[in-house]
Amino acid sequence: MTWRPDISAEHGPLPERILAALRRDIASGDLAVGTRLPPQRDLAFQLGVSLGVVTRAYAEAERLGLTSGQVGRGTYVQAPANGPAFTMTSTTDGLVDLARNYPPLGAARARLREALEALSRTNAVDFSLYGPALGLDGHRQAAARWLRRSAGIAVDWNRILLTTGAQQAIYVALGALLTPGDTLMCEAATFHGVKLAAAQGRFKLMGLAMDDEGVLPDALERAARTGARVAYLTPTLQNPTGRAMSPLRREHLVRIARERDLILIEDDVYAAYAGKTLGDCPPTLASLAPERVLYLSGASKSLMPGLRLGFLVAPDEPVLKSAAQVLRASVYSTPAFGAQIFTHWEETGEADEIAAQNRADAAARQRTALGILGGYVERPGSDQSLHLWLPMSEAAAERTAARALRAGVEVTPPSAPVVDSDLISGLRLCLGQTEGEQLEASLRALRPMLADAADPTFADVL
Ligand SMILES: Cc1ncc(COP(=O)(O)O)c(C=O)c1O
Repeated sequence: MTWRPDISAEHGPLPERILAALRRDIASGDLAVGTRLPPQRDLAFQLGVSLGVVTRAYAEAERLGLTSGQVGRGTYVQAPANGPAFTMTSTTDGLVDLARNYPPLGAARARLREALEALSRTNAVDFSLYGPALGLDGHRQAAARWLRRSAGIAVDWNRILLTTGAQQAIYVALGALLTPGDTLMCEAATFHGVKLAAAQGRFKLMGLAMDDEGVLPDALERAARTGARVAYLTPTLQNPTGRAMSPLRREHLVRIARERDLILIEDDVYAAYAGKTLGDCPPTLASLAPERVLYLSGASKSLMPGLRLGFLVAPDEPVLKSAAQVLRASVYSTPAFGAQIFTHWEETGEADEIAAQNRADAAARQRTALGILGGYVERPGSDQSLHLWLPMSEAAAERTAARALRAGVEVTPPSAPVVDSDLISGLRLCLGQTEGEQLEASLRALRPMLADAADPTFADVL
């Protein structure tokens, strides 16, 4: 059966009317669980609305768990619409989102209802209490098992602090290792959240020069001579560049850290996307120098950001204690709800399934993007990176981002990740949030803009 919604009786903006009709038809039984919704383009044609309107309605339906979509396979009704009606909360205002670094969400969403039901039955955790600052032991043990399987790293669960996302792990790590006014070394372009955390803590950032593997050993060595002692690095699928360090580069950086008595903060949130199979990763800095690397990761990229679960693995007891103090000062303890869902998925084996599906999905997206954008994109450090880097001058990046926005495509603001614009500039594209046809259409729209950006006469043409 093909769904032909009547949206004339509904009120509000067009996407919300489509969503309301969807809820109504699911609730009345007209649309049974498992029914395939029409392709977005067909429905847009049928209703006489733009593709973006339907895309927004479908995305919201999926976000609410009413439907589930799989790239290339279509969108299916998945649950009775008996929950409370939410309004649209998307921040993108109908724009195609290539700006935010989401993983594909279908695999986790499809298992969320069952996980919440399991959560409601659990009696192993008393959710009415404040939890311990480090997190519950069972959750920390699950984290250690998951890090071993998804990132190939053996960690002692006693050294793990559960945080509210990897973002908080970064904030806590900086608070534990630095005092205001100190310098934090990092890649010349880095995760925007590190810039925020450093500004909040009044730490100075020093961007280090990179090559196609990430930070250059010479740059770390030179920066260390200025007296800086702590470096934040993302060796695997660096954000924003998608670069990955070889084992040799990792060993070299660790050697310098030892010679110069540095502490390294290793952010490994993209580990699940690194290798040919889950957990097939190059050696972590933490495994090469456990005594001086604070390792952090999280469940957002491999499983689902809404879990808000991060993992901080301290190199020693004093650092663990300081980190726990910073965490207590900000949140007291990480809520156990997300950690319990994570633990449920870890114990049932669903975490592996979700990560495997996300990897396959990310690989398909990367192939699509490289096929359309070709040489304008730097080949990332794995076959399934969630983000891609397009090197170009600062001015070209700003102009291209503005042109893309006018065409309805939002990319990461070029200045957001940059720490030292003399060393690096470009555009980051995030592939995880936008589905199939729309991803392709937006990449095709970007292509001529990238050709213009690469043309030295482009500035004059404008
Ligand atoms: C490198 C890096 N670290 C940390 C984070 C934060 O992740 P979380 O959602 O776990 O806070 C991100 C999110 O984009 C990231 O790219």
